[in-house]
Amino acid sequence: MISLIASALLAASFATSRPVPHPLALVSRALNDSDIYANWPTYDQLPLHPSFPTKAAWGVWGADDELGALNHIRNATILDAKNEIKLGRAFNLNLDLSMPNPPIVPDRRPLIHAIQPMAGYQDDIITLNTQISTQFDGLRHFPYSTNNSQSTYQFYNELITFEDIMVAGGSTTLGIQNAAQKGIAGRGILLDWAGWMDSKNASYDAFNDTTISTIELDAVATWQGLDPDSFSKPGDFLVVRTGFTKQYRALSLYEQEILPFRPGEDAQFIGIEASDATLRWLWDKKLALVGGDNPAFENLPSDVSVIDGVQRSLHQVFIGGWGMSIVEFLDLENLTEACHELNRYSFFFTIQNLNVIGGIASPPNAMAIL
Ligand SMILES: *[C@@H]1O[C@H](CO)[C@@H](O)[C@H](O)[C@H]1NC(C)=O
Ligand SMILES: *[C@@H]1O[C@H](CO)[C@@H](O)[C@H](O)[C@H]1NC(C)=O
Ligand SMILES: *[C@@H]1O[C@H](CO)[C@@H](O)[C@H](O)[C@H]1NC(C)=O
Ligand SMILES: *[C@@H]1O[C@H](CO)[C@@H](O)[C@H](O)[C@H]1NC(C)=O
Ligand SMILES: *[C@@H]1O[C@H](CO)[C@@H](O)[C@H](O)[C@H]1NC(C)=O
Ligand SMILES: *[C@@H]1O[C@H](CO)[C@@H](O)[C@H](O)[C@H]1NC(C)=O
Repeated sequence: MISLIASALLAASFATSRPVPHPLALVSRALNDSDIYANWPTYDQLPLHPSFPTKAAWGVWGADDELGALNHIRNATILDAKNEIKLGRAFNLNLDLSMPNPPIVPDRRPLIHAIQPMAGYQDDIITLNTQISTQFDGLRHFPYSTNNSQSTYQFYNELITFEDIMVAGGSTTLGIQNAAQKGIAGRGILLDWAGWMDSKNASYDAFNDTTISTIELDAVATWQGLDPDSFSKPGDFLVVRTGFTKQYRALSLYEQEILPFRPGEDAQFIGIEASDATLRWLWDKKLALVGGDNPAFENLPSDVSVIDGVQRSLHQVFIGGWGMSIVEFLDLENLTEACHELNRYSFFFTIQNLNVIGGIASPPNAMAIL
């Protein structure tokens, strides 16, 4: 009897590195597949347990869930989105994989692309830090932390620890294989903040600490002829054009070369404001993922906002808290031009990230179809 209990406990502790018992088991939402928003918590009801970090959605998709916000994408979401394909015009949303060059965070190595001549054919070899160009941030990328110290890391649903990621041959939980194997497709919505600013002749600097608020994003929607209260649907992919890519492409090679090396306070980039208001606005929209043409979706440096009394970045709450991936450095230029031409801001999209078991992030291979 004792050995049975002991082996059951042992099995439980191998199954997950969570402390046992975990409050997640008590508060997790029972999911009804035919009515996934039954018992859906309001923003004010987050987190489901007071011991969970700021505005975490732990347990909202079940205690062992590894898909997070991608759960908003159901079969019907993809089926509905096929109605967005009206012209058959496909748009690549990925930058050249070596861009920006050098990477805007100098600690990150540039892309290495080598050609290997063989007998009668040739191969190529790509060595890539997945954070340097257009990227899909997976759920191993960003935990909550209070002081950036590994001892304070808290990953989505507390399913893994920092050690789980670092140990060779260890756990693969929360790796990007989950997103790759789910298959991501659906409806995308573009908000062209930069175009809205240009329409007002308002100047902005994407290489500065310019923050974009949800009040502005609602105004952008209105400018585009969309109703701010209903332009998005559950399962949508929301993309914001900040003007970063356009401004970056306009730099001389020399200016691109020195951009990452601006001293301390100047090392800033445009993005969405990290605030309680942003989180509430996004939570209510039930989005599957968010993205932008800028380095981090939120402005950089991040980690400057106090939310519920704790310093938090959007990255911490999105990835560590909601299990919501962020797609960064998207190339939205051609898509945006076509959207304005057609006066239509929704499209079919697909993302097929690399199927790397235990992976942290990946090029998204993102495509929009109008
Ligand atoms: C699940 O939702 C459907 C549709 O709202 C409802 O008919 C059914 O009773 C629910 N099932 C459970 C177990 O609550
Ligand atoms: C949804 O698609 C998955 C495969 O992607 C399939 O296993 C499942 O049965 C589908 N559900 C419905 C309700 O059709
Ligand atoms: C944008 O469109 C132009 C003109 O068709 C094309 O040359 C360019 O490759 C496109 N950009 C991307 C990133 O696909
Ligand atoms: C970070 O916070 C944790 C928990 O409060 C503490 O144990 C640790 O010493 C701190 N680390 C640093 C580098 O401040
Ligand atoms: C913006 O500037 C252009 C060219 O100077 C001018 O024609 C236009 O009226 C201005 N628009 C606004 C909203 O000020
Ligand atoms: C960048 O922002 C600072 C204040 O935050 C401002 O003083 C500076 O003029 C801005 N630079 C540009 C080029 O807009």
